[in-house]
Amino acid sequence: MAKVLTFAQQKGGAGKTTLLAQVAVALMRSHRPALIDLDPQRTLTGWMDERIRRNGEAGMDLTESSEWRVGADISKAARDADLIFIDCPGVADVMLNRVLRETDLVIVPAQPSAPDVWATRATLRMAAKQGADARVVLNRVPPRGSVIEEMAAQLEAEGADLLPERIGNRVAFASAFAAGAGVTETAKGSRAAEEVEALAASIIRLLG
Ligand SMILES: Nc1ncnc2c1ncn2[C@@H]1O[C@H](COP(=O)(O)OP(=O)(O)O)[C@@H](O)[C@H]1O
Ligand SMILES: [Mg+2]
Repeated sequence: MAKVLTFAQQKGGAGKTTLLAQVAVALMRSHRPALIDLDPQRTLTGWMDERIRRNGEAGMDLTESSEWRVGADISKAARDADLIFIDCPGVADVMLNRVLRETDLVIVPAQPSAPDVWATRATLRMAAKQGADARVVLNRVPPRGSVIEEMAAQLEAEGADLLPERIGNRVAFASAFAAGAGVTETAKGSRAAEEVEALAASIIRLLG
């Protein structure tokens, strides 16, 4: 049975699409990922188009989906893939509820800032309502700043499950994305690549 991994967060710009692409690339060696783009902005599709333009092939399929098709698209992707990555738009509501019911694990990227923390609460409530297991991953974490631990503590005090792995604020993520790649391809051995490898390993452990 293919596992379904959904990247959701009501707040735009938190890093859903970036982290999804990174983790999918990192897991290509050990798994057969398939991507589903549910965001009408089609950012993940843009990344995939660039990936194919540069390499001739991507190493994984992507389906451009929508609310009324996503159930069928998940079933279809599960025929060839063992790990299905779903990229959600910022404001999802009805669509998200539908997807969460089919999700094994929700990854909720959040930057260590108050607006992201506020939006995270709403996202976690939606996941809980649909019985989906959810984990918050702190993204774009600066090298230092007391706000980081404050935000982490606040989320944990509210009952959020935070992944121990954190992702730094690094240009390598933006440049890899622009090249249709992952940092584990473009910046092997870098701190960014290590962070992504650790996050991917943690996700696989959680999926069992
Ligand atoms: N860890 C990071 N370090 C540096 N830039 C990042 C990081 N994560 C995301 N970004 C940048 O932040 C912006 C928003 O990220 P994106 O993944 O598109 O968010 P979302 O899909 O949640 O709207 C993009 O320009 C992306 O390059
Ligand atoms: Mg996005």
